[in-house]
Amino acid sequence: MSELSAFLKEHEARHLEELKELLRIPSVSTDPAHAGDVRRAAEWVRANLEAAGVPATLHETAGYPIVYGERLDAGPEAPTVLVYGHYDVQPPDPLELWTTGPFEPTVRDGRLYARGATDDKGQMFAWLKAAEAHLAVRGKLPVNLKFMIEGEEEVGSKHLSSYVESHKAQLGCDAVVISDSPMFAPELPSITYGLRGLAYFEIEARGPEMDLHSGLFGGAVPNPINALARIIAQLHDDQGRITVPGFYEHVRDLTVEEREAWAALPHDDEAFRASVGAAGLRGEEGFSTLERIWGRPTLDCNGIWGGFTGEGAKTVLPAVAKAKFSCRLVPDQSPEDIEAKMAAYIESLAPAGVRVKLTHLHGGRPILFNPENPAVQAARRAFGAAYTAPAVNIRGGGSIPVVADFSDILQVPVVLMGFGLSDDRLHSPDEKYDLVCFYNGIRAATAFLDEYAAG
Ligand code: BES
Ligand code: MN
Ligand code: MN
Repeated sequence: MSELSAFLKEHEARHLEELKELLRIPSVSTDPAHAGDVRRAAEWVRANLEAAGVPATLHETAGYPIVYGERLDAGPEAPTVLVYGHYDVQPPDPLELWTTGPFEPTVRDGRLYARGATDDKGQMFAWLKAAEAHLAVRGKLPVNLKFMIEGEEEVGSKHLSSYVESHKAQLGCDAVVISDSPMFAPELPSITYGLRGLAYFEIEARGPEMDLHSGLFGGAVPNPINALARIIAQLHDDQGRITVPGFYEHVRDLTVEEREAWAALPHDDEAFRASVGAAGLRGEEGFSTLERIWGRPTLDCNGIWGGFTGEGAKTVLPAVAKAKFSCRLVPDQSPEDIEAKMAAYIESLAPAGVRVKLTHLHGGRPILFNPENPAVQAARRAFGAAYTAPAVNIRGGGSIPVVADFSDILQVPVVLMGFGLSDDRLHSPDEKYDLVCFYNGIRAATAFLDEYAAG
């Protein structure tokens, strides 16, 4: 490792410049106006892999291309590792809340600020540099290495299940590694052994055929905004539980051991509250903050609009109201089952004279792994190349839809070895990646390849 360490040290400045180059490409997958930029980011990743010595091509899908690279000359005795990551990013809005431009990566106080800095360009980049270091120093890799870097993670990875299914042989491996999640705290490396799933919906409520004068018609004609607000208000009870019939039917209870282990983690509710700037915390009664985020399902309204929202006042009785909302799911809930239950319940809540329509936008299944297998043990040892504290086991509240497909279709362990921090403001203005995390991530990824090869 010492020659590798020296190489990494020597190339720190170049690595940062390269990541900045990638961060300057606004690869916002949800916005068609950025379609060319998303492809440019794919091409950048492909070229960077090639430059590192990993032959790579773009595999077209019905959406954005998958960058696929492989270097399989470690020999038949060596294990095979598949690295997954994503080169697409979330939209940067609201732009006015960024201290410096979202696509003008800037270092301040040892932190690199840009959209995608931590999610996921910065973290994914560690694995490109790990391969580069091994190939530059030793001319070969200790494992057979495959890369699958996609461009539709932030929009639900909807073309990935079929890709993994139809490229099962090509993607065959002994373990998948993913760096797309936070560590529990700085200096506390973490193995994420579970992620929540997701079911994302849009709901439309329609009243009259057109917007009406609220003086001439208000009080006698149903108002779809009032109706939608009532529907949303009925989705939780006073204890913070979701009222959709059967919603908790397949929820697996947290084990006593898990609850005890989480309670022992260095979490402070007051610091957590202060970090989000809210006046207080709120959630399902009977559960701690970590349990609410990692181990319990949720339903959150993500956006709501309709009627008149311009300057001043307009006395209108609107024709339509819409909202987007989503559920975070835990084992053993499924997006399909929740969609069916949600559609039936929403229908039952619609008042006379208002038609509601629920559309399922995308989903992903929750996952839960046994936190011990040879790949995870290698990851624990690899973190030792960068951190002194042993890695803790955590779960994540976010979702990476393809993880369940890797697990089910490839039937191999998935190691979620996150290098970020939970205060990285992913999806928010001023997203950042600490340079300490950046360099430690590259060190840990580089060490992982040796550790996993050693078995
Ligand atoms: N990197 C995140 C997932 C994540 C966040 C895992 C925090 C663990 C902790 C990923 O890029 C993401 O944002 N996923 C989306 C899902 C997608 C279907 C839009 C999410 O969780 O909202
Ligand atoms: Mn991500
Ligand atoms: Mn994300």
